[in-house]
Amino acid sequence: MTETFEHPISLAPMMKRTDRHFRFFLRQITRRTLLYTEMVNTQAILNHDPERIIGFDECEHPIALQLGGADPTELTECARIAEDMGYDEVNLNVGCPSNRVKKGRFGACLMKTPDEVARVVEAMQDAVDIEVTVKHRIGVDDIDRYEDMLNFVDIVSKTGCKRFTVHARKAWLQGLSPAENRDIPPLRHPEVHRLKQARPHLIVETNGGITCLDEAAHHLEHVDAVMIGRAAYEDPYLFADVDRRFYGDETPVPSRHKVIENLFDYADYWTRERGHKLNYITRHLLHLFSGQQGAGRWRRHLSEEAHKDGANSRTLQDALAFVS
Ligand SMILES: Cc1cc2nc3c(=O)[nH]c(=O)nc-3n(C[C@H](O)[C@H](O)[C@H](O)COP(=O)(O)O)c2cc1C
Repeated sequence: MTETFEHPISLAPMMKRTDRHFRFFLRQITRRTLLYTEMVNTQAILNHDPERIIGFDECEHPIALQLGGADPTELTECARIAEDMGYDEVNLNVGCPSNRVKKGRFGACLMKTPDEVARVVEAMQDAVDIEVTVKHRIGVDDIDRYEDMLNFVDIVSKTGCKRFTVHARKAWLQGLSPAENRDIPPLRHPEVHRLKQARPHLIVETNGGITCLDEAAHHLEHVDAVMIGRAAYEDPYLFADVDRRFYGDETPVPSRHKVIENLFDYADYWTRERGHKLNYITRHLLHLFSGQQGAGRWRRHLSEEAHKDGANSRTLQDALAFVS
């Protein structure tokens, strides 16, 4: 790595996981990690109240909105909305392999048409001052050689786009489900390292299968940033050491208990004022105590109680009593 990039660690965009409640929760554990929203389809933003679809809390900064779409006009309009709402970055999804996405001709299949991606990214960049970035795969179907990825990045970076997040496994658009496409194609991190070496002026982030901070530190010897997805969800307290280790921020991190206590007011606000069920929030908290005594009873209490009418911070408090 030639320079220190300001966001060495990020939370991956994950549909149905990295919604505002999960991000608010993770923010109690790490103040510095760059947080990505789940992918949001441009139509969802343009046809509904954007505040309801992509609203976020001030504490979530730095925060990036990930967009799914291929229509330059729609993407440009959504990028403008994101900027007006205060997002720090807008990211284009060029990695999602689901059928729905293939029908809309966006996501991973866009890797086959780098010129089209470049046009879209350029239009978005012209419309906003915040950074426009791209998350893509290492390859897709038969277009899967290192040289193909380099070609994709070269064409898109000609627009001035400087930051690329690479999910270091290819996607098979025919034959593999989205979940299989996150596990079966082998990880090829060394090719992402090679991309950084070949294009040192770009900011390159690698992603895929990174489950501990030592692994992240290893990759950071070769690339500018590391994105973590499933491990963040399955073991959120993994991020407790991120700020100190990767940002030199020595601010004490709250204990697991304190993290939950810090959510009491938040839970009451969302259940009382905004009509959310408590389990919209608590479904993201189930793994916080994994490996700790009482973790099973914590999970069980929340699973049995948090969906009920009237569940609020008291329910959280009761669940907390089960973990030592
Ligand atoms: C449940 C789930 C939903 C995902 N949704 C998105 C998404 O909305 N946008 C995206 O670019 N990637 C999405 N991904 C892929 C992740 O961002 C990431 O690239 C992938 O999981 C590999 O990283 P990991 O091994 O650290 O999880 C999703 C992954 C999972 C597990």
